[in-house]
Amino acid sequence: MKRFTSVHDLIAGPGIDAAMQRALEFAADPWRQDTLGRRRTVGLLFMNPSLRTRMSTQKAASLLGAETIVLNAGSDSWTLETRDGVVMDGSTTEHIKEAAAVMGQYCDVLGLRTFAGLADRQHDYQETVLEKFIAYAGVPVISLESATRHPLQSFADLITIEQHKTRERPKVVLTWAPHPKALPQAVANSFVEWMRHADVELVVTHPKGYELDPSFVGDATVVHDRDAAFEGAEFIYAKNWSAVEPYGAILSQDKSWTVSENAMSRTNNAKFMHCLPVRRNMIVDDAVIDAPTSIVIPQAANRVVSAQTVLSYMLEGLG
Ligand code: CP
Repeated sequence: MKRFTSVHDLIAGPGIDAAMQRALEFAADPWRQDTLGRRRTVGLLFMNPSLRTRMSTQKAASLLGAETIVLNAGSDSWTLETRDGVVMDGSTTEHIKEAAAVMGQYCDVLGLRTFAGLADRQHDYQETVLEKFIAYAGVPVISLESATRHPLQSFADLITIEQHKTRERPKVVLTWAPHPKALPQAVANSFVEWMRHADVELVVTHPKGYELDPSFVGDATVVHDRDAAFEGAEFIYAKNWSAVEPYGAILSQDKSWTVSENAMSRTNNAKFMHCLPVRRNMIVDDAVIDAPTSIVIPQAANRVVSAQTVLSYMLEGLG
């Protein structure tokens, strides 16, 4: 696998079923391929903050025997310019063309985190920064969350559902929840995209106006009545996202969409999921995230498993 930016890269490579099988094997025995990355270096460039992605990807590389180099753009390294043809007489110091190419000289696999700017929908939805990085890196690239997707998170989410489901084809609900700041659509887009390829009954629920981009939602069931959506659900996945139209807008902070015990009582004793970090008592009430049915910590633990699985395919491909 030369790139991992969406579920489509996994489908074009080993396939979801084979990747899931390998992921479950890594979950059972994390050291089963602990020399695969010997004498290999994985470089991770973060243009935005991270706790889970940063630590879990480093841990995953370490379990495979690979070294890691981690940089925070702008603090550990130079401020990066991502536009083409600009006169660099402002605050940016190094162009992504050189930065990616140089990192590719030092590393066998690279990862990039670059969030949506939420100012220019076309720029974000064309994945301008990630695609440039891939074009200039010269080595396989993993998305550590991009403008429109968070594939390592979504793969971890799928693994978590596989481990916790109690029947075939469980009902999985993605619910919008309020947040004080405008957040990208990446986690929600990516979750829907992955779940549409999984054997689950997927329902998306959000207030009117928060429709996700049709290219991600496709023919997924969308219900604006959250109570109806939660009825009989086995997994509740909460996430905030800003509006796609007008792009990046906060249309509502309606606290009746906070995931409460009352809302969860309509479900089939559903497991609660969130990618973290989470705003308590905005996205989800304490009583829900602290309940035994909350699986946010094993979900975060599976970030190591998803990263290890993807890295293993990339390292194998280096020959
Ligand atoms: N879920 C997730 O990607 O967490 P971080 O932003 O802390 O990496």
